[in-house]
Amino acid sequence: MKIKNICCIGAGYVGGPTMAVIAQKCPDIKVTVVDINADRIAAWNDEDISKLPVYEPGLDEVVAEARGRNLFFSTDVDKAIDESQMIFMSVNTPTKTYGKGKGMAADLKFIELCARQIAKVAKDDKIVVEKSTLPVRTASAIKNILDNTGNGNGIKFQILSNPEFLAEGTAIPDLMNPDRVLIGGDTTPEGQEAIQALVDVYANWVPKEQILTTNIWSSELSKLTANAFLAQRVSSINAMSELCEKTGADVNEVAKAIGMDSRIGPKFLKASVGFGGSCFQKDILNLVYIAKTYGLNEVADYWEQVIIMNDHQKKRFADNIVSTLYNTVSGKKIAFLGWAFKKDTNDTRESAAIYVADDLLNEQARVSVYDPKVVAERMYANLDYLNTRTAEENREGLEVCKDPYQACEGSHAIAVLTEWDEFKTYDWQNIYDKMQKPAFVFDGRGILDKQQLKDIGFVYYKIGEDN
Ligand code: NAD
Ligand code: UDX
Repeated sequence: MKIKNICCIGAGYVGGPTMAVIAQKCPDIKVTVVDINADRIAAWNDEDISKLPVYEPGLDEVVAEARGRNLFFSTDVDKAIDESQMIFMSVNTPTKTYGKGKGMAADLKFIELCARQIAKVAKDDKIVVEKSTLPVRTASAIKNILDNTGNGNGIKFQILSNPEFLAEGTAIPDLMNPDRVLIGGDTTPEGQEAIQALVDVYANWVPKEQILTTNIWSSELSKLTANAFLAQRVSSINAMSELCEKTGADVNEVAKAIGMDSRIGPKFLKASVGFGGSCFQKDILNLVYIAKTYGLNEVADYWEQVIIMNDHQKKRFADNIVSTLYNTVSGKKIAFLGWAFKKDTNDTRESAAIYVADDLLNEQARVSVYDPKVVAERMYANLDYLNTRTAEENREGLEVCKDPYQACEGSHAIAVLTEWDEFKTYDWQNIYDKMQKPAFVFDGRGILDKQQLKDIGFVYYKIGEDN
């Protein structure tokens, strides 16, 4: 079957960039991205291309090329479902905040709503693709809903799992040159035909040997496994960073030494203030929950340690600031450089900065933040969500600056929370001159030039070094 019409439900960090690249690479396929969030759709349609709701280097060019040609953004979900042969579900699957599995399991209500809507609207056979990250065996629930809640006119649905491996900040290169594309489906002839239809879409730009097809459960579980392994590497090097600080070893030297072992490899060994982002914590908690529901307690405990280590890393960074500043930060100004969970994104979900700020505000510090891409409302929303104090108190305690020098002026300490490249090129002498003395820098990303800062007069603390 040749696909001519694709619809994607969910115009977020995954749905938007993924579909933009499919549209750019497959000009013969009409791609419509739909969302119930009208503001988001309006932003995707904004004539001013700098106003796209997702910031990703290179995304604006891809959207500019395909939008209006064969890429469309709309709130008319039913129409797009009706017109499409293939429907991607790319809605959010956050950690549940209520009921059974609260704080652990993935909340599948948005996925279920999508499936019900597809079943209700469909008038002909459809291939439904799981693009969201889902617990293993979700496809059987989706199939049940699709087969049993529709209008019963014999429509056939094929379900595929096609998890997304892009990382934010590098979404466009990751989509253009993926390490692999994974497609899982039924082993029946109809299932294999559906798999082939999706393989043919990707084959427009991805070499065939990098398109991997599996059974549907392997595909679903591979996504959770990949994120668990990646996060585990970060927690492993972060665990070592604390030991380095006590022993005189340097975590960057250790990372280099072990990374040259080809069995270990050099990537994802950067010690940090802790991993953030919308995926790692959510997906590991989900994995832990799944393992527990099968009674696999040792498996659950093993993976939970990755989260425990990460929470510890964020906490000890904040604690170190307080203890270094003579055990009190009450009334002191602490400048944050960065709020995003990593560089080159405006996404702040689960960013370490939120938790470090929360701890420092508990200690009555005044926090002033500069981030090149994150807007103030997002920062306040992140803090308000924690419910630690009132919204008014958050706004009193945290100041958001449009200029990094203003954020640092008069501060007692600077904390680097995100590894934005521009931080390295600041006029650090100028910043030093306008700070309280002694002037402290806590480099949670290990990006600044230690010797340069020490020569200027800063007291410099770097994750993973004996300072
Ligand atoms: P997001 O919150 O940015 O976007 C999801 C969108 O879905 C929202 O705009 C929401 O309004 C929309 N939506 C929800 N229910 C809907 C419905 N019934 N009809 C229409 N629209 C609806 O989320 P995201 O970051 O794009 O993640 C989506 C999925 O992809 C998640 O399962 C996530 O785990 C997975 N994933 C995310 C990343 C990442 O880097 N963000 C990477 C790989 C996989
Ligand atoms: C991750 C996965 O990499 C991606 O494949 C998946 O599709 C979604 O989840 P993302 O969360 O966007 O992507 O970014 P990633 O680059 O993985 O970084 C996650 C967090 O780990 C960030 O806070 C980052 O700063 C941190 N990190 C990463 C480290 O602290 N050290 C490292 O060596 C790598």
